[in-house]
Amino acid sequence: MADDLELRFERTVQADARIEPRDWMPDGYRKTLIRQIAQHAHSEIIGMQPEGNWISRAPSLRRKAILLAKVQDEAGHGLYLYSATETLGADREDLTLKLIEGRQKYSSIFNYPTLTFADVGVIGWLVDGAAICNQVPLCRTSYGPYARAMIRICKEESFHQRQGYELLMTMMRGTQQQRDMVQDSVNRWWWPALMMFGPPDSESTNTEQSMAWRIKRDTNDELRQKFVNMSVPQAEALGVTFPDPELRWNEERGQYDFGQPDWDEFWQVVKGGGVCNAQRIAHRRKAHEDGAWVREAAAAHAQKQAQKQAVKEGAA
Ligand SMILES: [Fe+2]
Ligand SMILES: [Fe+2]
Repeated sequence: MADDLELRFERTVQADARIEPRDWMPDGYRKTLIRQIAQHAHSEIIGMQPEGNWISRAPSLRRKAILLAKVQDEAGHGLYLYSATETLGADREDLTLKLIEGRQKYSSIFNYPTLTFADVGVIGWLVDGAAICNQVPLCRTSYGPYARAMIRICKEESFHQRQGYELLMTMMRGTQQQRDMVQDSVNRWWWPALMMFGPPDSESTNTEQSMAWRIKRDTNDELRQKFVNMSVPQAEALGVTFPDPELRWNEERGQYDFGQPDWDEFWQVVKGGGVCNAQRIAHRRKAHEDGAWVREAAAAHAQKQAQKQAVKEGAA
């Protein structure tokens, strides 16, 4: 019996079909998915903070409206993803506690500060751009609810990337001071953006099993290379450079060669030593505590509705 179930799971995955919430799945598969989707959801929610920092200081009403829409989209992405973890039996309250108690991670990119408005453009271009590279293959991931959430998320991420690039294009047509701001921002975000794909394949512990389960479709290094190949022509069109002396086209490979990010810095930020780690978590914790009355009111409302329904059914 157990063998039959396992065989069916393996066959479904091998055939590139989807595993659905009521299907049997190995415990490790369920745990890996919950951890990955929760980390992804946390990243969307924490990712609202660096840019949210600029909403009240956007340079025009138009920029403010765009930025508001973008940050709101990220909240929506977090909600789709928390919902996907619930289909696996996870509890959202528990995941939120894990985040604010530092027991679960989110993308380390959001622990860097946003110093100028150019950062809004560079985050849209490079950070959402890197997210797209990571997420497009996830539209074909083996777990159905995750794959379907990713389709919608990717559409919105591509709007985010374009708004960032368009903002930078506008700044690059402005004054020398504005162009300098863009270049300075690119210098600060380039390496953290490359870190978004995770450690090099040689140090990545989860990749092999995740690839076998078809949760992950490409390795960290493959995705990083794809991102570099995509970004260099965009930087040239924009008129900025990346702070990497090793970056050059390799005719033989038909790809760009590039240097490695500072992995010691990466691990330090992952472990909580980034400029903004404490601030991000403190802000999230406060938002969660301030929202307690909303959750209580919603729960009371749901309970009342259920009572009404029970009375109605008793009368029928
Ligand atoms: Fe997002
Ligand atoms: Fe985004």
